[in-house]
Amino acid sequence: MRRRPPSAGRQSLSGTRVWYTSAPFLKWPGGKRWLATRAAEISPVRFGRYYEPFVGSGAMFFALRPRAAVLSDVSEELINCYQQIQEDWSIIWDGLVDYALNHSGALYYNVRATEPRERGDRAIRFLYLNRASFNGIYRVNRSGKFNVPKGSKSVLIYPYDNFQEVSEAIAGVDFRCSDFEALIDEAREGDFVFCDPPYSVAHNRNGFIKYNDKLFSWSDQIRLRDALVRAHTRHVFALLSNADFPGIRELYRVKGFGCTPLSRRSVISAKAAARGTYGEVLISNYPLRVDGPE
Ligand SMILES: C[S@@+](CC[C@H](N)C(=O)[O-])C[C@H]1O[C@@H](n2cnc3c(N)ncnc32)[C@H](O)[C@@H]1O
Repeated sequence: MRRRPPSAGRQSLSGTRVWYTSAPFLKWPGGKRWLATRAAEISPVRFGRYYEPFVGSGAMFFALRPRAAVLSDVSEELINCYQQIQEDWSIIWDGLVDYALNHSGALYYNVRATEPRERGDRAIRFLYLNRASFNGIYRVNRSGKFNVPKGSKSVLIYPYDNFQEVSEAIAGVDFRCSDFEALIDEAREGDFVFCDPPYSVAHNRNGFIKYNDKLFSWSDQIRLRDALVRAHTRHVFALLSNADFPGIRELYRVKGFGCTPLSRRSVISAKAAARGTYGEVLISNYPLRVDGPE
């Protein structure tokens, strides 16, 4: 097991300890590593439990390392992977290293074709495919089958990998595999809900990014807004990241919520702008300690 240099820092914000730790161990579409570097600025200074209903690779969670957290996602394989690392990280790590050392096209397509029943084996398969697939993604089709071709990477172990540290970070976490609404409805006064849903990408509301076998529809965006408005009435801190697109801003033109546009100059290219993609916006019911576009 490689050891990461002890670079994780710590900052105290009026009593709330905010931890900065390793990068997420998964590659995930829409991952928020870039936003997580600003975690302290965009989180409430003090909060109770941390809820993240669209956790993906958990970039914000790993940056904040809150003391009490409930993390959830609709992806069963993703949540199983976290739970297996939580249970015994070394078994999962050894399995991943074994695949990584023997990585080849034949192994990749063999593993892709298997559907292991044992939960530990499923987690190892998930991690291997996540790292070895084209563009490093884990994406399934409508029938729930992983169908991404092999990527070009031959080195699948990262210099910063430290599954022991990951398991320590997630030791007390309550993981759920569920739709976002039930999780948001659970948050109580003083808790903090961070939502990073699949983004809307088209003016006409029909172009939605696909993550799993289901689309995140416009009615899901409305359902999410309604759940966050209910959370606001219970005095929950709510923070949402989304594409800075007029339909989304319109949706959150409700009492108690404000928008802070963010630009990702380093990430959004001229090509992306030409394709008509949008910047990002943070929507919150408490003041953020950022000045808008970087
Ligand atoms: C933009 S990604 C989150 C990325 C994450 N913030 C990160 O840093 O990696 C959106 C996530 O929402 C999940 N998702 C999609 N529909 C959902 C739903 N109805 N309820 C809960 N999660 C959902 C997807 O599986 C995906 O992991």
